[in-house]
Amino acid sequence: MNFHDLETPCALVDPDVLEGNVRAMSERAGRLGVRLRPHTKTHKCVEVARLQVRGSFGGITVSTLAEAERFADAGFGDITYAVPIAPGRVERAARLEERIERLALLVDHVDAAMAVERHGARRGRALPVFLKVDCGYHRAGVLPDSDEALGLARNLAHSQWIEFRGILTHAGHAYHSRGREEARAIAEQERDVMVAFRDRLASAGVRVSEISVGSTPTMCAAEDLGDVTEMRPGNYAFFDAFQTAIGSCRREEIAFGVLATVIGSYPRRNESVIDAGTLALSRDPGPIHVDPDCGFGIPVVPGTREPLAGARVAGLSQEHGVLRLEPGDGGTVPRVGERIVVLPNHSCLAAALFDRYHVVRGEEVVDVWRPVRGW
Ligand SMILES: Cc1ncc(COP(=O)(O)O)c(C=O)c1O
Repeated sequence: MNFHDLETPCALVDPDVLEGNVRAMSERAGRLGVRLRPHTKTHKCVEVARLQVRGSFGGITVSTLAEAERFADAGFGDITYAVPIAPGRVERAARLEERIERLALLVDHVDAAMAVERHGARRGRALPVFLKVDCGYHRAGVLPDSDEALGLARNLAHSQWIEFRGILTHAGHAYHSRGREEARAIAEQERDVMVAFRDRLASAGVRVSEISVGSTPTMCAAEDLGDVTEMRPGNYAFFDAFQTAIGSCRREEIAFGVLATVIGSYPRRNESVIDAGTLALSRDPGPIHVDPDCGFGIPVVPGTREPLAGARVAGLSQEHGVLRLEPGDGGTVPRVGERIVVLPNHSCLAAALFDRYHVVRGEEVVDVWRPVRGW
């Protein structure tokens, strides 16, 4: 199939750029002396995960049990489910754990730990668990200086029905950085908080064998991960407009785009309307701390990463995107029927809105990949 025959809106993946991204991160992990356990939440797709683990030990990270089940079916045997486990999901996770080598769970609260423990005792087999640590993002995780953190770590380490794997964090606050230098400082904080917590636990008699960290901005910027044992970036496979704005990648390294058609043209108000709205691009506001006028993604000429002169995606409703041209920027309002590609602000969210990705090399659609959906 030719790229021009695709119905819009649709999701495009550039396989060569994708390959370059996954190879670069793999090499980075090697240079930094840590294992790469890529997060698959960005694409949720077996084909991309296989590329991500090429040359590494093969472990992956997932954000839903649906992903874990699909990847297990495809032969992945070492999976970390990196969202704190809901007590009601332990049973389903344990069923999956029985048919692969290892499914590690996350807890940051004693109630969740007790649910895992009760289940382990019932079936007579321990479940692998990481203690989730808050290294500064303040979304989830125990505060490493708190009494609760120490108490919970002791419970996990001493439980007969839990196999305590180690400590895990995600520096999501790195998304507030304005460039690589700031992201590097957060990577150092992420590492230092975890190593200090490991030492605190060691002096309390709790041995930690794994220290797992990672976000795309911190892992693209880190220069020294010290005693960290593994990294879990995910977005780097596709990258996006946000990562470009904060210096994790160049625009040419974005592997994911949304192909759209111009369905309305309004030269008097310097606007066109495309058929990619919130349900194709997501409503992620993007890197407004770096560029308040970033709009909802970067509109580019199809087949390139060249921005459409003076154009931005100024507004979205469900199935409409408003493309606004700044007068005097040299662009002309695209005409009805023309096609453009939008590099979304957040590829994880935009990709999740499509049931298939068209893999396009040059003008040819060389493959169609089907991601897993649901929870
Ligand atoms: C627990 C956890 N680990 C790793 C990642 C991967 O980070 P990124 O999306 O920046 O690559 C995420 C992303 O949300 C996460 O929640």
